[in-house]
Amino acid sequence: MLLVIDTANAEDIKELVDYFPIDGVTTNPSIIVKEKKNFLDVLEDIRVAIGNDRELFVQTLAMKAEDIVEEAMYVIEKVPGKTVIKIPATTEGVKAIKEMTSLGIRTMATTIYTPLQGYIAAKAGASYLTPYVNRIDNLPGDGVQVVRDLIQIVEKHQFDSQVLAASFKNIQQVLDVCVDGAHGVTLAPDLIKQLLLHPSTEANVGAFSDDWHKAFGERTLID
Ligand code: E4P
Repeated sequence: MLLVIDTANAEDIKELVDYFPIDGVTTNPSIIVKEKKNFLDVLEDIRVAIGNDRELFVQTLAMKAEDIVEEAMYVIEKVPGKTVIKIPATTEGVKAIKEMTSLGIRTMATTIYTPLQGYIAAKAGASYLTPYVNRIDNLPGDGVQVVRDLIQIVEKHQFDSQVLAASFKNIQQVLDVCVDGAHGVTLAPDLIKQLLLHPSTEANVGAFSDDWHKAFGERTLID
């Protein structure tokens, strides 16, 4: 199951890659503009932070299929390493995904709100399907249920696509889609850090250390 960082901040990415088993980084236009730097410079900094072997997901901005394909080709040419083109699951987007698939370029169908949008994107050849869990919850709707339905569609009909769920605001949503069999999640840095935090774990670790040092003073395990 993939663990992906949802940010364009290279400093946050460097720190997380150091500590966590990270598979890649997702970006979108709203995340990119927060860095207040040139688009390609932001992507280059992320690429340096994650190396060439992890996937970097870059979203297109255009509305028409031809323009989406042109943007995608530009990104593929300019950004080294493994790049996946994120394309919104609109009618024009699906047309672009079909074109990218025929060229052998990996895509993520993003901004998915319904299982049937995901079905069409999977059939068009998207490598990843990305339902927006928290944004669906806010409609109101049931984001976790959309992920669950999408997993069923992909698995029952043996599509090659993976469900990489996005837009999380709390770790209960993350737990729910993990248990239900999502193929991956993309999470903001603060949520990734929360995955490991538990006060009882911290208390236990402190008590082990205290017991040891009461008995052996400053000695460590190896000296
Ligand atoms: C990731 O691919 C999406 O762009 C992102 O998770 C959207 O999340 P948000 O709803 O927190 O903006």
